[in-house]
Amino acid sequence: MKTIRIKDKTFAVSIPEEEILKQVKRVAEEINRDLAGRNPLFLAVLNGSFIFAADLLREVTVPCEISFVKLASYEGVSSTGAIKEVIGLAADITGRAVVIVEDIVDSGLTMVHMLDTLAKHNPASIDVCSLLVKPGNLKVSLDIKYKCLEIPNDFIVGYGLDYDGWGRNTRDIYTVVEE
Ligand code: IMP
Ligand code: MG
Repeated sequence: MKTIRIKDKTFAVSIPEEEILKQVKRVAEEINRDLAGRNPLFLAVLNGSFIFAADLLREVTVPCEISFVKLASYEGVSSTGAIKEVIGLAADITGRAVVIVEDIVDSGLTMVHMLDTLAKHNPASIDVCSLLVKPGNLKVSLDIKYKCLEIPNDFIVGYGLDYDGWGRNTRDIYTVVEE
């Protein structure tokens, strides 16, 4: 078993690069079919989606633009836990077919907040495109139109995703090994 050590934890390969890229290509083809003639604006959520966005966009063949946003945690009183504020929205999304490019949807709370924020700017449509989804952790009903892979609730790293800032630069995706 191919394992790596990141900080204090051991991780084993769970999704090889080849499988990731196959699913990324499949989703890009769905987008090419659905959004033909719509000139979509992809909004990639930093930092985790940077590798996914790069691979996805190179498989997208419809005319499109890409822009990047970041989520900043802020200390607010909220019934739903830690809410993150969308920062850096530089593009004008009014009237646009927006596709949010995210690394992983876990509880879904971040995505719901993101959708609420973006909806205030009156886009023509907003679709969610996530590399990974943990269906077992979803706490809200959320329509994730484009998803590459569904995974169990275990913590993963690699291909852009991090453990405490580390491990983003691997080609495969790794799952934490219980010791
Ligand atoms: P949510 O609001 O619970 O859906 O949070 C999603 C965010 O949590 C993602 O954008 C990731 O930054 C982070 N996250 C959730 N699960 C994992 C994981 O297994 N590995 C790394 N980051 C994760
Ligand atoms: Mg993320």
